[in-house]
Amino acid sequence: MSKILVTSALPYINGVPHLGHMVGCLLPSDIYARYMRMKGCEVLYIAGTDEHGTTSEVGALKEGMDVQAYCDMYHERHARTYKDFNLSFDFFGRTSSEQNREITYHIFEQLDKNGFIEERTVKQVYSVDDQMFLADRYITGTCPYCGYEKARGDQCENCTKVLEPTDLINPRSSVSGSTNLEVRETRHLFLNLPKLEQRLAQWIRTKEPFWPDVAYTIAQKWLKEGLQERCITRDLKWGFPVNKPGFEDKVFYVWFDAPIGYIGITKQWADEKPGERNWKDWWLDAAGVRHVEFMGKDNVPYHSITFPATLLGTGENWTQVDYLKGMSYLTYEGGKFSKSEKRGIFAEDAIKEFPADYWRYWLMSNAPEGSDASFSFDLFAAVVNKDLNGVLGNFVSRVLKMTSSKIGDAIPSGGEMTAAESELTAVLQARVNDYLKYMDEMEFRKAMNELRAIWVEGNNYISAAEPWAVIKTDEARAAAILRTCINLIRIFAVLSAPVMPTVSAAMLERLGLKPEDMPLLDNFDVSREIAALQPGRPFVVGEPLFERIAPERIEELKQKYGSAK
Ligand code: 2FM
Ligand code: ZN
Repeated sequence: MSKILVTSALPYINGVPHLGHMVGCLLPSDIYARYMRMKGCEVLYIAGTDEHGTTSEVGALKEGMDVQAYCDMYHERHARTYKDFNLSFDFFGRTSSEQNREITYHIFEQLDKNGFIEERTVKQVYSVDDQMFLADRYITGTCPYCGYEKARGDQCENCTKVLEPTDLINPRSSVSGSTNLEVRETRHLFLNLPKLEQRLAQWIRTKEPFWPDVAYTIAQKWLKEGLQERCITRDLKWGFPVNKPGFEDKVFYVWFDAPIGYIGITKQWADEKPGERNWKDWWLDAAGVRHVEFMGKDNVPYHSITFPATLLGTGENWTQVDYLKGMSYLTYEGGKFSKSEKRGIFAEDAIKEFPADYWRYWLMSNAPEGSDASFSFDLFAAVVNKDLNGVLGNFVSRVLKMTSSKIGDAIPSGGEMTAAESELTAVLQARVNDYLKYMDEMEFRKAMNELRAIWVEGNNYISAAEPWAVIKTDEARAAAILRTCINLIRIFAVLSAPVMPTVSAAMLERLGLKPEDMPLLDNFDVSREIAALQPGRPFVVGEPLFERIAPERIEELKQKYGSAK
């Protein structure tokens, strides 16, 4: 049994996640973790909130809260939402934990000891009224190139030019609006990435076959352009104070301790059951661990360059990424999700409108892999009505209702498998093999296509076999057809479990089965599974598995959640 470490990029604590966040890393990582568990692997699935940095300080200020209380409150909101979406983390922790502090300090000390930390004096904008240095993006002013009045100090959103805060005309603090700004000198610590470049390049070469194009290309581009030193400290209050004499009034930069958070959160998990669990078995001198990371494409450089270099610089044997799944963006009706502009559906609201599995299935069948994808309520309703209700739901209720009314509430006995069932078995086996291959490769859109095609085969089979007509002349043959169909319900439940765990459990329950009874997904043999349920086993017909979304409801949802601009 192999050990699979699955991590999802740690969502920023400030604000609540929207559907784009869900599909960008959280949901695909969950589906992969569930899938690998069903293949019999030992899986550790870790995520948590990314809590430090200016955005949390500013967010707390805007909500009139203490930063710690603000993070506590938002951590709970994140955790609840992900629970509602059925994300099966082994642990959902926090980057602000004591465990993460301990590991961050250790990694920093190692880097410093090995000569990869440099001290530098830099000039930065200080807001006298806010009594803080301002991160570039917290300075607003007029763009010198296009005249846009709300340009940020790092980039103009209007003309996309990259800016320095000092380029802005009439600069002001985005925190308070104050124009009382000064450029001050401040000392900071830098990670000397150029010194680590060779080691990193060598390590990346070992990774080539495992990295999808996007990560490998980004990493190569960075290496070609030459790595820059990265500032890893900030003049802020909210963060881990730097453990180096002379720098105690600074904190580590959020991007320094955030990826270390994967390790810190694993230690939080292990500390819950010391003796039984050891975080080092997964992270330090750990044998046989395959680490798979999921993230949005903007996170790829940090995970393919900065974090691996940080770990290499310690001189210790840390588990590095083996496979990096980078996702593109999901837009809302072609535009941006925006809480402040009340546009787009956020995860907390989504779950109040429809069960998690509807979202899980839609998001994964339309996953922004390769290129961006767009959510719309029309598309969502079309998929729910057609794939879920029309294909899967309809098959399940049709089969169980027909068997119940024509024969009884138990799997019928009699009849033999014929050429039709052998043909069905062969077609399904080929599709199942493709489905499993795509899941192994984390090609989720393709996997979902294949899953739907598997459900369609069920409908094709029953339409061609016509048990409702056959029963009039040959009861035994009709029994064999319906028995095959009931076995198909179980097969569909098993294959759908990683993406729709609740629907899968509901299907199994109708057959008197539990999720624990499911067979493993490696070497899934359709010829065995299609005859697994024996005659005489009772079943219940139950309510329809899915609700149809009517056109009026689609209009209501569009009104409620806004349209794109
Ligand atoms: O983009 C984000 O939401 C970041 N908070 C991801 C951090 S991933 C890891 F490094 F923690
Ligand atoms: Zn501009």
